[in-house]
Amino acid sequence: MAGKTNNKKLMKWIDEIAALCKPDGIHICDGSQEEYDRLAQKMVDHGTAIRLNEKLRPNSFLVRSDVADVARVEGRTFICAETPEEAGPTNHWNDPAEMKSTLHPLFQGSMKGRTMYIIPFSMGPIGSPISHIGIEITDSEYVVNNMRIMTRMGQKVLDVLGADGDFVQCLHSVGKPLEEDEPDVPWPCNAENKYITHFPQTKEIWSYGSGYGGNALLGKKCFALRIASVMAREEGWLAEHMLILGLTSPEGEKKYIAAAFPSACGKTNLAMLVPTIPGWKVECVGDDIAWMKFGDDGRLYAINPEAGFFGVAPGTSMNSNPNALLSLTKNSIFTNVALTPDGDVWWEEMTDAKPAKLTDWNGLDWTPASEKKAAHPNARFTAPASQCPVIDPAWEDPKGVPISAILFGGRRSSVVPLIHEAFDWNHGVFLGSIMTSETTSAAAGQVGKLRRDPFAMLPFCGYHMGDYFSHWIGIGKKSSPDKLPKIFYVNWFRKSPEGKWLWPGYGENSRVLKWVFERVSGTAQAEKTAIGNIPAKGSLTLDGMDISPGFLEQLLSVNNEEWKNELPGIEEHYERFGDRLPKELTEQLDALKKRLG
Ligand code: OXD
Ligand code: MN
Repeated sequence: MAGKTNNKKLMKWIDEIAALCKPDGIHICDGSQEEYDRLAQKMVDHGTAIRLNEKLRPNSFLVRSDVADVARVEGRTFICAETPEEAGPTNHWNDPAEMKSTLHPLFQGSMKGRTMYIIPFSMGPIGSPISHIGIEITDSEYVVNNMRIMTRMGQKVLDVLGADGDFVQCLHSVGKPLEEDEPDVPWPCNAENKYITHFPQTKEIWSYGSGYGGNALLGKKCFALRIASVMAREEGWLAEHMLILGLTSPEGEKKYIAAAFPSACGKTNLAMLVPTIPGWKVECVGDDIAWMKFGDDGRLYAINPEAGFFGVAPGTSMNSNPNALLSLTKNSIFTNVALTPDGDVWWEEMTDAKPAKLTDWNGLDWTPASEKKAAHPNARFTAPASQCPVIDPAWEDPKGVPISAILFGGRRSSVVPLIHEAFDWNHGVFLGSIMTSETTSAAAGQVGKLRRDPFAMLPFCGYHMGDYFSHWIGIGKKSSPDKLPKIFYVNWFRKSPEGKWLWPGYGENSRVLKWVFERVSGTAQAEKTAIGNIPAKGSLTLDGMDISPGFLEQLLSVNNEEWKNELPGIEEHYERFGDRLPKELTEQLDALKKRLG
């Protein structure tokens, strides 16, 4: 079976791309289980995927990528706006026509020897007023099956699209055409020639050369963040790199919180955490992306545009994130993790004891004595969100869920306290705009380097970051302070001068969420500091927690001298945006300077 469409724009586009890429065949995906199973078997037959032990991990697969294709490639990611100014100083820019003429010869015949798949997908519940449709054309079975987990995909989307519906065009090729009789490789890619390109004017995505994650699953970073951020600006909403969680108090009151953290900083862990404080409950709406629009009541409502989790595997365990582990017990795809002798998966920290013998992510024998890691640090699982034991009952509500608080955060071993609350919306936007974090292996490049990552959107904002700040300021003017979410900044990663983690994190973060909840309700006390409001003595619930008063004091300390040292870095960061930096943020910086004395 194959999908059927009478959409004029789509039929024309398929013809155009087929003429360009010259695939051996074309398949319109219907999204059925039968189709998924057939493509999975094709990957197994080609040596791309290994079927895991059916008893231990039913209907699940391990895939090993090429060693040169293991993460997002920010250096090869382009925003091809009309002018470099529109892309802004934080994006790589190329002229749209020039980029198309670079890409055309690469896509010419790029699908020879392969099938061209047409993937109709909806970001967000099908038919929700917040959702949007995309069509990805790809020559990768791995992409098709990942997209079936990560999005609502198949015939039902074509039905909604109808004859005249519009969609975002997402073109992808691994860039490895096959000559007649040329044997395929397990992970085809074109490592030397990767291009992840976005055309905001025409809302198109062209991705070439990589088959990995955000480079290839075009609904995720390319559409739901880079292109959607442009759409959101045009239409007055927000497309953000944020998890969404529901927090219920022992009294049964529920509030939804959205939180932006850079890649691989624990969004998935926070989104489905198991609270250590009795009576509190966390439920997960999404772990990576939030689209937020105003409801008629003036509040911001969020949906998770995705339908699955594409999470970082290493570090995920029954201790750190049991709900993630329970989400991927079946129907999941694992990329670049290790294989156990009985046909299951393993990665660093999954279990306390390391298995005696493994096959590592390169397919080589591994023992605990091996110097290399068994799984790649950016190894991933792809799992259906519906399998999460704490998936929120409203996670597919087409209206979205009302957001009461927004958290920003990053990895900072010093200076930034465990939590501080913004004085108001504009101050919150200021906190988002100056976010800093240490880099992780989610993107190719150096790990552990401190960089500014405003709103955790540095790699994902599809236009000038200064205009993005203005858009956030503008959102604050569309409603009243009592209806807008309260904004907070958290840091789970502060260390003592001796280099010890001060805060245990994971489930204990529920204590911080409780304080946020109670600040929104107006019941928790705060103490004003130069950088924002911190929990007043005794207002952070610490019952049953083993933390020394010394550590707590360091965690909540705001040292004005240290913060004064931050100012030149903030000024330098702001200078990049020139006259596109909204005056409200300059005012915020001036006000901070005054408060620091
Ligand atoms: C992700 C990322 O995959 O941010 O979510 O890199
Ligand atoms: Mn992410």
